Amino acid sequence: MITEEIIKKIQQKKGDYPVFRSAIMSALHEIQNTEGWLSQESLYKVSGMLNIPPATVKGVATFYHMYRHVPMGRNIIQICTNVACMIMGAEKLVDLLKREFGIEAGGTTGDKRFSLVIMECIGACGTAPAMLVNDDFHDNLDEKRVMDILNGYK
Ligand code: FES
Repeated sequence: MITEEIIKKIQQKKGDYPVFRSAIMSALHEIQNTEGWLSQESLYKVSGMLNIPPATVKGVATFYHMYRHVPMGRNIIQICTNVACMIMGAEKLVDLLKREFGIEAGGTTGDKRFSLVIMECIGACGTAPAMLVNDDFHDNLDEKRVMDILNGYK
């Protein structure tokens, strides 16, 4: 549900841009940061607030990988499986996460503790493999390090 506070913030952001269309991403971030994901309802809400066709808002929301379209767990594991990370063992780490937490890529654990997202390069090729947990960056990963890190997220 989009609160009055979010609506107020989005209305304020409209004034930051010369055209309302430019505020789409900012509005989507605001909702996702609060709600954890972007529902169909929230896309229509942004469309209405910015006076932009719903298809345009949906086009932006579905173009970028950072926007989520299903409810997520409390902690989002984003693991890179692009070339450098793959060579350095990222697929083994994905298998570990599947085994330990019973989640597939794009899935969420039954207790909503973790969601797993497979990412493209996150800019840490030199210290691969790498992952984000929420906004926290972790690199030079191996199985033990991944489990030690994830034990810190409840
Ligand atoms: S390939 Fe994984 S961080 Fe670049």
